[in-house]
Amino acid sequence: MKGTSNQERVAAVTQVISERRSVRSFSHEVPVRETLEQILAAGLAAPYAAAMAPGSALDRRFFVLPRDSEALAAAKAAIQAHAAAALAGGALPEPLRARLEPVSQGRILGVGTAPYYVVVAERGAMMPVQQQSLAHALENMWLMATALGLGIHLVSATTTMGDDPAFCRILGLPVAEYALNGCAIGVPAQTPAVRPAPDPAAATTWLD
Ligand SMILES: Cc1cc2nc3c(=O)[nH]c(=O)nc-3n(C[C@H](O)[C@H](O)[C@H](O)COP(=O)(O)O)c2cc1C
Repeated sequence: MKGTSNQERVAAVTQVISERRSVRSFSHEVPVRETLEQILAAGLAAPYAAAMAPGSALDRRFFVLPRDSEALAAAKAAIQAHAAAALAGGALPEPLRARLEPVSQGRILGVGTAPYYVVVAERGAMMPVQQQSLAHALENMWLMATALGLGIHLVSATTTMGDDPAFCRILGLPVAEYALNGCAIGVPAQTPAVRPAPDPAAATTWLD
C-alpha cells in the first residue's frame, strides 16, 4: 500500500476483520470472474506447511463450480451419496448424524445455494497439516471477499471428500492425495448484522 500510512493500513485491516461474517443467504447477482480471481489470489498467497509438502513446494488448487454447472450437480450428488454411505456405515456420534442427515437428503448448504461453490485442494502426505494450510487459505479468501463486499460461508462437508472417487473424478484429482476444503461465495442477500467487538483483554493472560 504505497503512500498509505500505517494507521490507515491498520484501520483498513481492522475494518475488514470486524466485518467478516458467515453469510449464508445470497442474492441472485453473480459476482464477475475477475472478482473471484482476486479472492483466489488471496487464498493462494496464504501460508502453507512447507516442511510437510512434497518437495517443500506448494501445490494448492482452486476449483470454481458455478451454481448451474454440470460439475456442481455432480459434486452435490457425490457429497449426498458420501453422507448416505457414512450414515449407513454404522454407529456415529449423534451430532455428526444430525449434520449428515440433511446432506444425505441433498440439502447441502453452500452447494447450489450460492452462485459459486469453490473447492480448495492442497497436496500432501499429512492431511491434518494440509487441512491447517487450507484453513489459512480460506481465511485469506474470506477477508478478501469481505473487502470486496461479497459474502462467504465455509462448506466443511468438502473436507470429507478427498478420498471419494466420484468427487475427485469431477475435479480431475487423484483419490486421497489432496486435502480438500470449500466455501460458498456470492453477493449477500442482506448486510450482516454488526456484532460488538469481543474483548481481547478477557481472553488474554500476560505471563510476564
Ligand atoms: C472449522 C470450521 C468449520 C465450519 N464449518 C462451517 C460449515 O460447514 N458451514 C457453515 O455455514 N459454517 C461453518 N463454519 C462457520 C462458523 O459456524 C462461524 O464462523 C461461527 O458461527 C461464527 O460466525 P461468523 O463466521 O459469522 O463470525 C465453520 C467454522 C469453522 C471454524
